[in-house]
Amino acid sequence: MPRGLFITLEGLDGSGKTTQIKRLAAWIQRRGLDPVVTRQPGGTATGDRIRALLLDSRSTALAPMTELALMFADRAQAIAEVIEPALAAGKVVLCDRFTDSTEAYQGGGRQLGSQLVLDMHRLVCGNLQPDLTLLLLPSLAVCLDRARRRNDRVAAQSGKDENRFEQEQEAFYQRVWEKYREIAAREPQRVALIEGNLTIDEVHEQIAEAVAESLITVGHAC
Ligand code: TYD
Repeated sequence: MPRGLFITLEGLDGSGKTTQIKRLAAWIQRRGLDPVVTRQPGGTATGDRIRALLLDSRSTALAPMTELALMFADRAQAIAEVIEPALAAGKVVLCDRFTDSTEAYQGGGRQLGSQLVLDMHRLVCGNLQPDLTLLLLPSLAVCLDRARRRNDRVAAQSGKDENRFEQEQEAFYQRVWEKYREIAAREPQRVALIEGNLTIDEVHEQIAEAVAESLITVGHAC
């Protein structure tokens, strides 16, 4: 059984990942493949409990190292329970956020630095690397505006409070944004950088082009 294809989606809150991952999953299905779609934090029963701890704004005074360790605890579970078994079964895995998020948010945003995150990734995640990372990077102003409006809407509709990160200041998000650009510059062979304030259709086209190329490399015709 040939190994599957591991694709991650990355970007700031409000970068449009959620819309794009749904469209990409449908695009892949139309090509006769059955992708496994998952997200971090979350995506497993244990991960959903870790997610609640991490994102609830009542989790006050969470030390940056605690946050970092919880992100990796969630990821280790997702790799063991979802990602590795799917890849071993030859599936395409679409993962909404992976270790680049930790490097950008905890390494950049929380200023823990990249090296610690990359070292933990080697130790905790066996250094599993995505075959392709789609990094959506509209301007910071656009992301902040969309993320705030979405959170107000979700909180009003469901009473769900996942706002802990959104309460961060703009300087935090500026550091996250810059770290993402640094990752893209460091690993251009893995990271497809989709920049600028594009329409949903324009972003989807760029994503489809990058994914089509990766599918061909692993031998899936499309
Ligand atoms: P989520 O609601 O999934 O946001 P989005 O839909 O924008 O992806 O919340 C995930 C939040 O957790 C988001 O603010 C980024 C943050 N995060 C980290 O700080 N580090 C990580 O390693 C991961 C996976 C997420």
